[in-house]
Amino acid sequence: MSLYFLITSSTIRTQTKKTVKSVVGGQERVDVISRCLFNLYRWQKRMEREIHFVLYLSHPNELSVLYIPISSIKSELKSELDSVKEFLSILLNPLEYNLKFEKVSFLELLEGLSENNVFYYFTPEGNKIQKHEKAFKKEESICFVLGSQHDLTEEHENLLFKFNTSTISLGDKNYLASHVITIACYYLSQLLG
Ligand SMILES: C[S@@+](CC[C@H](N)C(=O)[O-])C[C@H]1O[C@@H](n2cnc3c(N)ncnc32)[C@H](O)[C@@H]1O
Repeated sequence: MSLYFLITSSTIRTQTKKTVKSVVGGQERVDVISRCLFNLYRWQKRMEREIHFVLYLSHPNELSVLYIPISSIKSELKSELDSVKEFLSILLNPLEYNLKFEKVSFLELLEGLSENNVFYYFTPEGNKIQKHEKAFKKEESICFVLGSQHDLTEEHENLLFKFNTSTISLGDKNYLASHVITIACYYLSQLLG
C-alpha cells in the first residue's frame, strides 16, 4: 500500500526570500510544513510502505502542487532544524531533487490523485478511525487530506467531497498537522504491520 498525505498551505510562497531564522520565526508558516516533512521522513524509515508528501500551495498567486516522494530525501534528517534546512533547499531548487511545482487547480489535483487513490479527510467532525479498519486493509493506495495551520477552506472541502471521500476524526482535540500524521502512521503501522 502507498500512502499519500495531501496538505494545503495558503501562506507559503515560492518566490520570497526565506532563511532558517525567518522560518523558525514563523515566516509563511513554513515551519508547519517542515515539521510534517520531518514526521513523514521518520515514518518512512519505520514502515514498509512508500510515503508521498503532496504539498498544495493554495495562495491565489501560487495554485501549484509539489509531490515529494519521501524516498527522494537523501540527507539524513535528525532534527526539526535539519528538516527546515532540507525543505528550504527543496523550495529553492526542486529540480535538484527531481521535483517540480506544477500549476494546477485544487479540483485538477484531486482528479489526478483520485485515479489511484481513495481519499480520507481528517476533520474533528468525521468518523472514528476504527470505522475504516476493514477498508484500510483492502486499499492499494490511500490519500489522507488535512489542513496545515489552517483548516481546508469550505470550497476545498466541497470539492473533496465530490470524490467519495471518507472522514476521520481523532476526537475533540485540535492537533497539529504533524501530530495528525504521526497518529495516522502509528495507527496504520499497528493495523497493517
Ligand atoms: C492545526 S489543525 C488546523 C487549524 C485548526 N483547526 C484551527 O482551529 O486553527 C491541522 C489539521 O489537522 C487535522 N486535525 C486536527 N485535529 C484533528 C482532529 N481532532 N481530528 C481530525 N483531524 C484533525 C485537520 O485536517 C486540521 O485542518
